[in-house]
Amino acid sequence: MKSLKVFAPATVANLSCGFDVLGCCLEGVGDEMRISLSDTSGVRITKIEGADLPLATNKNVAGVAVVAMLEALNDTSTGIDIEIYKKIKAGSGIGSSAASSAGAVWATNQLLGKPFTPKQLVKFAMEGERLASGNAHADNVAPALLGGFTLVRSYAPLDVLKLNTPKNLYMTIIHPQIEVKTADSRKVIKSNVPLNKAVTQWGNLGGFITGLFTSDYELLGRSLDDVIIEPLRSILIPKFKEVKAIAIKNGALGAGISGSGPSIFAMSKGKETASKVAKAIEKVYTPTGITFDIHVAAINAKGVSEII
Ligand code: HSE
Repeated sequence: MKSLKVFAPATVANLSCGFDVLGCCLEGVGDEMRISLSDTSGVRITKIEGADLPLATNKNVAGVAVVAMLEALNDTSTGIDIEIYKKIKAGSGIGSSAASSAGAVWATNQLLGKPFTPKQLVKFAMEGERLASGNAHADNVAPALLGGFTLVRSYAPLDVLKLNTPKNLYMTIIHPQIEVKTADSRKVIKSNVPLNKAVTQWGNLGGFITGLFTSDYELLGRSLDDVIIEPLRSILIPKFKEVKAIAIKNGALGAGISGSGPSIFAMSKGKETASKVAKAIEKVYTPTGITFDIHVAAINAKGVSEII
């Protein structure tokens, strides 16, 4: 095998109660990439379509992720060429940089005969996140690589767990076309958390994970609450409160900021409800004059996958 075309999926990180630790992978929303072995050693970004992103390997998230992987193998002879066909916009809040880093390391791993497990690839893809946002968080790259819902139980040492996905869970995502850089959106949050808020947050995180494993949709809904990050970041997102309220009024289990925003997610039981929620959100957003995309997506159980 000399070349591989992959689907690199979008992801929703944080999921309200799990800042930097919780995330899930979306079906049908994502980028395409072609990764090829080359006779010339080193890692090159040979083509980018759909976005104005750097071609220089050390400035491109896919480039640095694959370099980190080859370094871990002490491999100085392999040549890798990367073509990126972006569909997820940078600064959208649905894991644009994570999709590129995860797609690149997953495909390279396949081409090299799978020296790493998908879990082991997470730390290389995190290097892309470090470049993109100044922080090597794993809550987008882990679900992009493992599929479904994932939890980063620990960063040091890195311990990533794949969680359960209830069958009938759907996401509605609105992406207002304003760019909120993760690096900027991380500057508005505080590094100290009052104990009473931490108690609320970790109670909800435990509740959410229990809900995933017991397919208790009501529990998932009441656990989708963020008393720490959302109050600070939501002011960067036009109509956040209205979107959240209308989503819940139309049957969503809960709603919140997708990753670092500006996308907003609503989680629903059943595709019909998720589509109804999408229509209701559309009505709230159209009068703002801000261009937006809306996706209704199932949870992607596989993560990055080969396009045949
Ligand atoms: N956990 C990260 C953040 C995700 O909220 O900054 C970025 O998509």
